[in-house]
Amino acid sequence: MTMNYYYITGTGKGIGKALALHLLEDKENYVVGLSRNNAIKHERFEFIRVDLNHFDELNMFQFIDIRDADKIVLINNAGMIGQINHVGSIDNVSIYNTFMVNSIAPAILMNNFIKAYRNYSLEKIVLTISSGAGRHAIESWAAYCASKAAIDMFSLVADVEQKILSAGYPFKIFSVAPGIVDTQMQTQIRNTDKSNFSSVDKFIDYKNNKQLSSPEKTAELLCKILQNPDKYDEVLLDVREI
Ligand SMILES: NC(=O)c1ccc[n+]([C@@H]2O[C@H](COP(=O)([O-])OP(=O)(O)OC[C@H]3O[C@@H](n4cnc5c(N)ncnc54)[C@H](OP(=O)(O)O)[C@@H]3O)[C@@H](O)[C@H]2O)c1
Repeated sequence: MTMNYYYITGTGKGIGKALALHLLEDKENYVVGLSRNNAIKHERFEFIRVDLNHFDELNMFQFIDIRDADKIVLINNAGMIGQINHVGSIDNVSIYNTFMVNSIAPAILMNNFIKAYRNYSLEKIVLTISSGAGRHAIESWAAYCASKAAIDMFSLVADVEQKILSAGYPFKIFSVAPGIVDTQMQTQIRNTDKSNFSSVDKFIDYKNNKQLSSPEKTAELLCKILQNPDKYDEVLLDVREI
């Protein structure tokens, strides 16, 4: 039997949880969830408690030697929008945490993942959940937009390197915008005071007009990329366009 190993950050809720549950439907898949909270109980699921805001906890995590794998995947999904407010009025701790979870943690995990498995002759993928916000400036989301833009670029560089360095079994690298998804992150956006975020009504309308995707549908679309990585030449993708 073939065995696929998936490391997913942020499996506590939202897209990460839906993705883990979707992958676990296939008995060839084993999932390791790295998160602060866990709501998944499954014989092929392992939970490792990590707070990605804490450098020491993040740095202590090690990717283990996997002998029976046919495919190994890192999904950097965990993310936070941080305090929604204008530059000049943002809490500095929020800026720090947003970059830590959205840029530094996925960059460190990608670095350690490539280090751990670079000599493995099998299919290897790093898929980071980025955001359209990393590709367009959005009022009141400065740290979120900038931290997603940073991980897009980190992924682009890693991809260029894989094409230069790895002859037989390079890592496929993706940074993917998931669309607008009905999770707690959208609830936080809708609950922002209009004086701090003038476009809040647009996000309330998305919800009222049922324009949000479900985490489950998003998980299915992300799995399309994971199942057929060679179909996608670009590093920066958007699930609404695949
Ligand atoms: N929802 C959208 O419309 C949307 C749009 C574009 C991009 N995204 C991106 O999609 C990804 C998933 O977001 P979501 O919508 O599913 O949001 P969510 O429901 O708020 O979930 C965020 C996930 O990140 C984890 N997380 C946050 N801070 C963490 C920390 N310090 N340490 C460990 N895990 C942490 C959470 O796990 P625990 O709290 O259990 O630790 C949770 O599983 C994020 O990268 C987000 O930026 C979402």
